Amino acid sequence: MSTNDDKPKSSNTVWHHATVTRARRENLKNHKSAILWFTGLSGAGKSTLAHAVEEKLHQLKCSTYVLDGDNVRHGLCGDLGFSEDDRKENIRRVGNVSKLFLEAGVIVLTAFISPFRSDRKLVRNMVLHGDFLEIYCNTPIEICEERDIKGLYQKARKGEIKNFTGISSPYEHPEKPELVVSTGEVELNECVEQVLRLLQERGILNSIPTN
Ligand code: ADX
Repeated sequence: MSTNDDKPKSSNTVWHHATVTRARRENLKNHKSAILWFTGLSGAGKSTLAHAVEEKLHQLKCSTYVLDGDNVRHGLCGDLGFSEDDRKENIRRVGNVSKLFLEAGVIVLTAFISPFRSDRKLVRNMVLHGDFLEIYCNTPIEICEERDIKGLYQKARKGEIKNFTGISSPYEHPEKPELVVSTGEVELNECVEQVLRLLQERGILNSIPTN
């Protein structure tokens, strides 16, 4: 079943249905596929947490893939900057790629600031209820700025980077995320456990023991 309302530009394309379905792929791997959508400020710990969760899931023999903002912007979204329109397009593309991973039976973990509620909602609405789990990495800007791992906050404060999220461009925190993780205070291992518990509660991991 397709939930994609995007109309193709050409009317001469026909959807081809696979015989190897999502359900068959999920059965083979004994877990459900899902989109774990990590959102939060730059430096909030999204990528670190996504990769740590992936490591744990991989050890549990799950099919996984991390889509990371900085990486995707080197290829698929290399033509996009940080204007509101470009960020919207970034998330639209990533949403569609995530949807393909979902069909492929994969637990896809995305680490994008994705600052706008409407864009995150767009992706949520691309898939079926329960397929999209929004995980808010709630590190306050003071901590992100103090860490400033990439030195970008300092540049943004000096005006050397325009439209920097949290400084000169807004971040709209999620109103009803599936999970809020205090990535600024809580140990990484505990954050990973919180995400794994969510996956068990939602039946994505079935009965696979996580420890
Ligand atoms: S998003 O807003 O479109 O979701 P995305 O997650 O892809 O952003 O990219 C964010 C990363 O790009 C940041 O972690 C940071 O390293 C870098 N970056 C460069 N310029 C900016 C900017 N103006 N605002 C935020 N991040 C920026």
